[in-house]
Amino acid sequence: MKNKEVRTDSMYRLLCDNMAEGFCVVEVLFDEAGAPHDCVLREVNDAFERQSGLVAVAGRRISEIAPEAAAQWVEAFAGVARSGQALQIEQRSQRQGRWYEVRAFRWGAASANCVGVLFSDITQRKLDDLMAQSVVEYAIILLDPEGRVRTWNAGAQRIKGYAPQDIIGRHFSVFYSGAEDIAKDQPRKVLALAAEAGRFDDEGWRVRRDGSRFWASVALTPLRDADGQLQGYAKVTRDLSERRLAEEALRAQVQERIRVQQQLRELNGRLEAEVAARTQELTRANAQLVEAKERLQELSARLIQAQEDERGRIARELHDDLGQLLTLMRIRLADAAKEHASAAVEGCTELVNEAIEHTRRLAMNLRPSVLDDLGLDAALEWMLGQQAAVAGWSAGYHGSVGEQRFPDEVETACFRIAQEALTNAARYARASEISVALVLEGDQLLLSVADNGRGFDVERSRAPAERARHFGLVSMQERASLVGATLAIESAPGRGTRVTASFPLRAGWLS
Ligand SMILES: Nc1ncnc2c1ncn2[C@@H]1O[C@H](COP(=O)(O)OP(=O)(O)O)[C@@H](O)[C@H]1O
Ligand SMILES: [Mg+2]
Repeated sequence: MKNKEVRTDSMYRLLCDNMAEGFCVVEVLFDEAGAPHDCVLREVNDAFERQSGLVAVAGRRISEIAPEAAAQWVEAFAGVARSGQALQIEQRSQRQGRWYEVRAFRWGAASANCVGVLFSDITQRKLDDLMAQSVVEYAIILLDPEGRVRTWNAGAQRIKGYAPQDIIGRHFSVFYSGAEDIAKDQPRKVLALAAEAGRFDDEGWRVRRDGSRFWASVALTPLRDADGQLQGYAKVTRDLSERRLAEEALRAQVQERIRVQQQLRELNGRLEAEVAARTQELTRANAQLVEAKERLQELSARLIQAQEDERGRIARELHDDLGQLLTLMRIRLADAAKEHASAAVEGCTELVNEAIEHTRRLAMNLRPSVLDDLGLDAALEWMLGQQAAVAGWSAGYHGSVGEQRFPDEVETACFRIAQEALTNAARYARASEISVALVLEGDQLLLSVADNGRGFDVERSRAPAERARHFGLVSMQERASLVGATLAIESAPGRGTRVTASFPLRAGWLS
């Protein structure tokens, strides 16, 4: 001890100099009016000097040593000296930058105006408190070895909803959700695992005080002293509910997207299957149509051929059988006339002549023998002559194929087209001039029949209703296409009509 004025025994001195707390005895100084105005430090121990950084302060006044805080301390110590009531405050020393707990109590008799002051450095505890109060992101708590809560920070309060006084001393299993975890003895296992491994990390649902759940990330660390004795556990918990919810939402989104994609794929598959089925149906229908068309064409060709054959047969019968019979009859009638000339016989002869002529014309119209005998060129010229004589046309024929023959069906088709065109001209055109041409041009055999008559609306004549009533134009078209030829009809009201058929020449036709 530095002051020999105050009486002390050796034990007291020993105690003072060896204690960790700073200690001093101050005497409060009062003026004449009884007001405290300063303090004198009567005694200080070694720890006081260490803590305060002040040396040789015994006997000095507070107003000298710490002028900035003097007034506050003088008032506080005077209060203690007068009342005898001890004082305990926490004070931060500006100079040291540290926190102290200051306890002041009356020292000796009341009349001595002395106060004993103990200083303990509580900076570490203050820092711990500060951390406990400042960290709100994490629940940082200490558990005793059995798992009871010993400390509770602001983060713990924020996350779990308990105030310190409501939770300290309770077992940490209250944070576990559901009877399930408890039944599985999870809290105890968790402590055992942490104690064994030196650390235990966990994630899972936990419950707040109000019963709501949160997704917790927990790190549990066993606390051991120097001898390895388990003192408790540090438990750091984070509330990851938002992250968890965001993850779940994301997962749900991804799953939804996968589901939608799956649906799309299915739909697409179904659509493709349907399209394939429809395409197959269409292909089948199309094939049927094509087949039907082919059958129709075949039928049409056969009909035309049959008609042609029939006409030929009837023409031959008319010419050969009926014609010969009539000719025989004329010869007999001539013989009879030689024996008995009479008006009756003469009349009969005339009728027979007419019948012969009529039969010949019928046969020629059905199938002119000139076509078979002399060919297309001669047959066309002959037919034009015949029709022109009846219709009174001035007719012009231009033919450049001569005696050239073509396949039978081509000659027949060409002849019948010309025949129909001339018949139409005679019936409808009221023409004065007609020209027919049959020429070889490039690799085509061209037939054209042109009149200078009143013409007609070709488009309209192609309308289904018209085609149902008139078969001439249709049959021309049909005959042409059956031998691979194309037919064109050019006509306009008042401007005449021209029918052109082009027969492509095939190899071997002209040999
Ligand atoms: N050269 C033509 N001049 C004027 N009209 C024509 C001529 N050729 C055809 N036509 C018209 O076209 C229609 C159709 O002819 P077509 O198919 O041969 O049928 P049809 O001779 O049985 O009436 C005729 O009714 C007629 O009005
Ligand atoms: Mg006709």
